[in-house]
Amino acid sequence: MANLEKDLDPDLPMVPCLADEIGQVLLNMIVNAVHAIEDKIGNKKGEVKGKITIKTRHNNDFAIIKISDTGIGIPKEILNRIFDPFFTTKEVGRGSGQGLAISRSVIVEKHGGEIKVDTKPGKGTTFTIKLPIKAN
Ligand SMILES: Nc1ncnc2c1ncn2[C@@H]1O[C@H](COP(=O)(O)OP(=O)(O)OP(=O)(O)O)[C@@H](O)[C@H]1O
Ligand SMILES: [Mg+2]
Repeated sequence: MANLEKDLDPDLPMVPCLADEIGQVLLNMIVNAVHAIEDKIGNKKGEVKGKITIKTRHNNDFAIIKISDTGIGIPKEILNRIFDPFFTTKEVGRGSGQGLAISRSVIVEKHGGEIKVDTKPGKGTTFTIKLPIKAN
């Protein structure tokens, strides 16, 4: 249903982080991306129409991770609520609205990083995560 494309920084330095928790954050982002693509094009087997891209870069201060999808996008009216605990547009069993709330606490509170969203309704969404490279 979706292709996963990687565009990884070959010189990404080691980033001090809670690896399991960062893994959970990325997993939620990928599941969200898959759902957004399903919501746009359905999930017919054998049909590959969506694309998820994971891109990493760095500068002096931050490792930067971008997760992009070509899914349905996020309507303007709800954009300021997606990080709220238990905010979800998904039916019971598909999501409980905790992924982004937990992600924000892991990235911002536990790592002193940043998490931002950029979306075009109908076209897709990119989440950008910045993690400080120097231990603080
Ligand atoms: N990539 C995306 N494309 C479109 N909408 C998104 C995307 N990521 C998040 N959303 C919207 O933000 C809401 C909150 O996302 P979040 O990950 O916090 O919860 P969830 O996916 O609904 O449930 P959970 O993560 O707990 O399984 C989603 O229900 C969805 O409406
Ligand atoms: Mg989620």
